[in-house]
Amino acid sequence: MNCYDVEKLISAEEIAGKVRELGRRLSGMYVGKTLVVIPLLKGGAVFASDLIRCMDLDLQVEFIGAASYDEGTESSGEVRLTLDTSLPLNGRHVLLVEDIVDTGLTLAYIQKLIRSRKPASLRTVVLLDKRARRRVDVVVDEVVFSIPDRFVFGYGLDSPGGYHRNLADIVAVKD
Ligand code: IMP
Ligand code: MG
Repeated sequence: MNCYDVEKLISAEEIAGKVRELGRRLSGMYVGKTLVVIPLLKGGAVFASDLIRCMDLDLQVEFIGAASYDEGTESSGEVRLTLDTSLPLNGRHVLLVEDIVDTGLTLAYIQKLIRSRKPASLRTVVLLDKRARRRVDVVVDEVVFSIPDRFVFGYGLDSPGGYHRNLADIVAVKD
């Protein structure tokens, strides 16, 4: 596995506090409704698994997968679907959960796909927002942390080659 010179950007404790707060807020938004939570794989899996356990609601979990990064730290700009949901989304309240919005290409692609299935509503929550690198306009309803234009990994986000998703903290590679 590769070694990197990193610094802690966001601690596990800080993440946990914000995720709890978001879970409570989302629970209030869907009172009396049933929800389909869709983690966007692979990066959204860790965030989503903590988030759903902070949500006091009737909900189902479906998975969707997209890939745009190959082995480097720059997006190829090309998004492909790697996994699709198994239940119909028509008429359902959908909450899409993603690790990070960077250029916005991945979320724009997945949101368009989900909207084409005519859900009753679609809300998107992301853990991290790297706004400085946005290339397309994309609707993000909740951002947990805004971060500078640095390569980060941990808490579900991978380093090149697909490692380090299991780190509890989010770290940034030193410039
Ligand atoms: P976008 O399509 O450029 O918005 O990129 C979104 C995807 O790229 C995310 O789902 C992440 O998987 C990945 N990504 C973007 N920035 C980072 C980063 O700093 N570390 C790890 N993965 C990243
Ligand atoms: Mg991702």
